[in-house]
Amino acid sequence: MSSSTTPTTTTTTAINLEQVAYFLVTGASRGIGAKMAIETARKLKPGSVIVLLARSASGLESTRSEILAVNPHVTVVTSSVDLATASKELLNEILDKSLGKQPTSQFGLACVIHNVGTVGNIERKAIDMDDRTEWEQYFGTNVFTVAVLNSCFLRKFQSVTSKLVINITSKACLVPFQSMTYYCAGKAAREMYFRVLAEEEAAAGVTVLNYSPGPVDTEMTVDLQANSNAPEIRDYFKNLRDTTTILTTEQTTAKFLHILQNGLFKSGDHVDYYDHEILVPWYRGGEWKSGKMVINSALGRTFLFLTNLAWKNRVALPALIMVGCMVLNYRGEIEINIHTERIALPDLPNWQQHAGAFGGIAIDHLEDFSDDDEFDDDDLYDYFESDEEDGVYVTDDEEDEDDETYDDDEDDEDELGERMLNGTIRLNWYTTLNIHNARR
Ligand SMILES: NC(=O)c1ccc[n+]([C@@H]2O[C@H](COP(=O)([O-])OP(=O)(O)OC[C@H]3O[C@@H](n4cnc5c(N)ncnc54)[C@H](OP(=O)(O)O)[C@@H]3O)[C@@H](O)[C@H]2O)c1
Repeated sequence: MSSSTTPTTTTTTAINLEQVAYFLVTGASRGIGAKMAIETARKLKPGSVIVLLARSASGLESTRSEILAVNPHVTVVTSSVDLATASKELLNEILDKSLGKQPTSQFGLACVIHNVGTVGNIERKAIDMDDRTEWEQYFGTNVFTVAVLNSCFLRKFQSVTSKLVINITSKACLVPFQSMTYYCAGKAAREMYFRVLAEEEAAAGVTVLNYSPGPVDTEMTVDLQANSNAPEIRDYFKNLRDTTTILTTEQTTAKFLHILQNGLFKSGDHVDYYDHEILVPWYRGGEWKSGKMVINSALGRTFLFLTNLAWKNRVALPALIMVGCMVLNYRGEIEINIHTERIALPDLPNWQQHAGAFGGIAIDHLEDFSDDDEFDDDDLYDYFESDEEDGVYVTDDEEDEDDETYDDDEDDEDELGERMLNGTIRLNWYTTLNIHNARR
């Protein structure tokens, strides 16, 4: 017997929604139920039948219109019913009418989403809940009718190969929240019913998912924020709304469909919206760690935003970087201005044959003996002729060793007077060496 409440990554429960299906949703007049009905119906094949239940006829009609707008090839049946008191006979009648003369064998999938839910009396504490009728009414809507409808549904579609039962559950079935006694007790009882069902009907082709949608912006959470007797609960939802971290029905429905279609659960599991997290490296306490990041955290959203941005710009970004580099290539030329008393240059005429530290060093131009125009390039080469073979500049130590040569040079200098070299040597694509008034 499985007692796990954590989701298991397996593809065996992956549901193919792109087929002819019979699809029933309770509490489909607004909120999560309406959005799930629309987004799931969008995927179904022509010939599918969609049944929407709730009390508000206008709410149901609105959901029906939205479904037909996204998938005109399905049949949508609405039934205005109070599930607090609906009998087994009434529920069977609704199922029969929705089918008409169509045989159940035409459906490849029979799916029900038990989404109906109320939060109950949240102004009263657990210690004050002595009204039996209130208990019965609450459990009538949220547990008893859910179980009865489920039995009617599975019996009706017994012959359909693939049967999918979704229970919209809550974290409140695992964790106690002040002021929410009815809700927590009801959700716990309801989920346990579905977990037993999953165990018993595994061999009969019934797949069960208990999906917890996270805190979602609906009338239910507006009610909790306004009327809960617990300040913590009111503040919790206020904070979620103020920081816009409360989920939308679109977000939770998208996650629900992702879990369903990818089979990210084992039949009977309780899967929460937040169970699917990104593994990211964290830097803490001076070391990198690998940890989970909740997608809906501030960091998670920033991470997703940046990855999304990078992905969207995967073509433009490299092009932009390339153009940037080309511009920088002009702007970023490193100019080394040598204002020195002495500079030794290797054999200039053969310079290009020597591969120095920069790879092949090219001489773009050497021009202007600025102070002495009478020198031509040949003079310059002669002047800087060096006994350094390897293209390395002369260091102070080497200078000592080369005293003799140096002396010779000084003689030359005496002959030539105050002769200057001005010019530019391109060391590589990025670097030019500007020589100003270098003398030897
Ligand atoms: N919102 C959240 O943060 C959150 C978090 C965890 C779990 N959930 C669960 O998600 C489900 C949907 O919640 P929601 O936030 O979308 O709530 P919601 O906006 O209040 O919608 C509840 C739906 O249930 C229907 N309903 C209520 N009482 C009914 C009755 N006696 N008979 C027939 N239909 C009835 C409502 O329709 P009518 O009024 O027209 O009858 C409505 O369509 C619930 O099971 C809830 O427990 C919600």
